[in-house]
Amino acid sequence: MAKKTVWSDNRFWQRSAAWITGFASILLIWLTFDTIPQIKMGNDADLQNGVTKRVPGPTVINYKITYEMNTKRGHEIPVIGGMNAEGTSAFQEKEKFFGRDDWSQDEAMELLALGKLASQSKNCMNCHTLLGNGAYYAPDLTKAWLDPAWGPEGSMQSMTGKSTKEEAMAEFLQHPSQYPTHARMMPNLGITAAEAKGLVAFLKHMTSIDTNGFPRNFAKIQGAVHGK
Ligand code: HEC
Repeated sequence: MAKKTVWSDNRFWQRSAAWITGFASILLIWLTFDTIPQIKMGNDADLQNGVTKRVPGPTVINYKITYEMNTKRGHEIPVIGGMNAEGTSAFQEKEKFFGRDDWSQDEAMELLALGKLASQSKNCMNCHTLLGNGAYYAPDLTKAWLDPAWGPEGSMQSMTGKSTKEEAMAEFLQHPSQYPTHARMMPNLGITAAEAKGLVAFLKHMTSIDTNGFPRNFAKIQGAVHGK
């Protein structure tokens, strides 16, 4: 009888499979526990105390948000409330959101919850992408708040006749077919004024999330409402 090598031994393969499965399970459990605190939403105290969270608290809507190149990380990062010497958030510069920059944590959370529910019931993801989920029929909304089209010099502010970003966006969301800019038009979805306010808060908060530079082509899709 020929001598069996270790490679032809069933027990060797069985044991390897058991060890590899066991090791991978432990690794996945560890990674899960490592990820949970990193993606946990921060709160108002973090923003007050200058603590950077990957997912900032809801009152981030009281702050100015910009998107700056971080050379150390090699991609753009959301910067909340102006930049400090390290090129990260300074949490200093506030920005009025529908006339106020003192939304409390509960009020802001209520707006975000309403916006999230509206985004689900109106199925924005059917056409848009949010944080990597959804479709690419229409512009990626992950950083939509930073689309210059909504800014003071942007086409959407003049077209909607509004003088702030949030009002222009809310107006567009309620009557998108009145403001066609693109070969593809966003249909009217029956969004109420209250839902529009919540959705804009939801979009502003989403923009403040540190997504490791996702979407990669954001710089190229700035002004995506113009279809360039
Ligand atoms: C049936 C497809 C469809 C659905 C559903 C839809 N949209 Fe749109 N949306 C579009 C299209 C197409 C555009 C581009 C419009 C243009 O350029 O005139 C657009 C544009 C936008 C813009 C401007 C994009 C930018 O970069 O500034 C925002 C904001 C937006 N949609 C938000 C929403 C939200 C929030 C929802 C869910 C409540 C939603 N959309 C649901 C098709 C859709």
